[in-house]
Amino acid sequence: DQKINILAIESSCDDTAAAVLCNGKILSNIVATQAVHQQYGGVVPELASRAHQQNIVPVIHQALAKANIDKKDVSAIAFTRGPGLMGSLLVGTSFAKSLAMGLDIPLIEVNHMQAHILAHFIEEDGFDKPEFPFLAMTISGGHTQIVKVSDYFEMEVIGETMDDAVGEAFDKSAKILGLPYPGGPLIDKYAKEGDPKAFKFPKPKVDGLNFSFSGFKTAVLYFVQRETKKDPDFIEKNLKDICASIQYTIIGILVDKLKKAVKETGINQVAIGGGVSANSGIRQALRDAETKWGWKCFIPKFEYTTDNAAMIGIAGYHKFLKEDFADFSVTAQSRYKI
Ligand code: KG4
Ligand code: ZN
Repeated sequence: DQKINILAIESSCDDTAAAVLCNGKILSNIVATQAVHQQYGGVVPELASRAHQQNIVPVIHQALAKANIDKKDVSAIAFTRGPGLMGSLLVGTSFAKSLAMGLDIPLIEVNHMQAHILAHFIEEDGFDKPEFPFLAMTISGGHTQIVKVSDYFEMEVIGETMDDAVGEAFDKSAKILGLPYPGGPLIDKYAKEGDPKAFKFPKPKVDGLNFSFSGFKTAVLYFVQRETKKDPDFIEKNLKDICASIQYTIIGILVDKLKKAVKETGINQVAIGGGVSANSGIRQALRDAETKWGWKCFIPKFEYTTDNAAMIGIAGYHKFLKEDFADFSVTAQSRYKI
């Protein structure tokens, strides 16, 4: 039996990542997170590109060393072609092309959003894989989509956000509360000790399976401004309850649309992916949906929720099996549809 070793590279945003997979199993999964953005309250594209440039060689060396794989035993290079920040994508794309050319092996281009979904196909003990067709909800700092997945690379977006992504709703709400970037994980942390029904925030009215989060952030802002006018210490005194109420509302919005999607498609296998799928509230909501409504839900391991190269590697592996290789003239694409 042949060993297919994929070296995968991810550089779409602010994480430089490399992974090695052998026949779909992870041998190594390295991520260098860029701390430089924290002081700016968001990702600064120019700084992200520079940090990728610095990190990419050490990260790839680490991934190969940890996997105990020699460069000459790599079968193909998979990389994130898009969507993402152009300057960031250029680093990974150019590096992947050069490396594949130098090693004289195939090059495989991967769509980052497809990869978030295909992360569920990583060979992992104790984790079931979804069966086609299933529904996937990708929830991250840049995306909010409901996707009907008919095959590995046959995906149809059936709902998406009209404005902000759900991760932005978390991060912008956190910023209003004076929490550092990225605030999503902190809201999650405080929410665990708060009362989700302490405060009520409006849910947007959006047709079909689409989402809108820009009004939500404004509602949080007005609420906080109004209450701090009455009591300057309002946030401090109520932080846990505010976070719990924000998280409860956002998850309610997501679950309402998932319910609608399940009803409309008749598909009750639901997978989540993307940074926000690390959120404990959404994870619990899906577990509850299994018992309440008989859904079968797929929740990724924490290390495969936020940006990583393992997911690029598993997508690359399935393209390798189809011999779906990229031409060396391939270019990065900052907007790249599923
Ligand atoms: O997938 P990702 O790493 O990068 C993008 O492609 O955007 O997602 C990052 C997003 C950020 O908005 C971050 O606040 C959010 O995921 N996030 C969370 C949690 N962990 C990460 N949001 C809520 N709860 C969490 N536990
Ligand atoms: Zn992502």
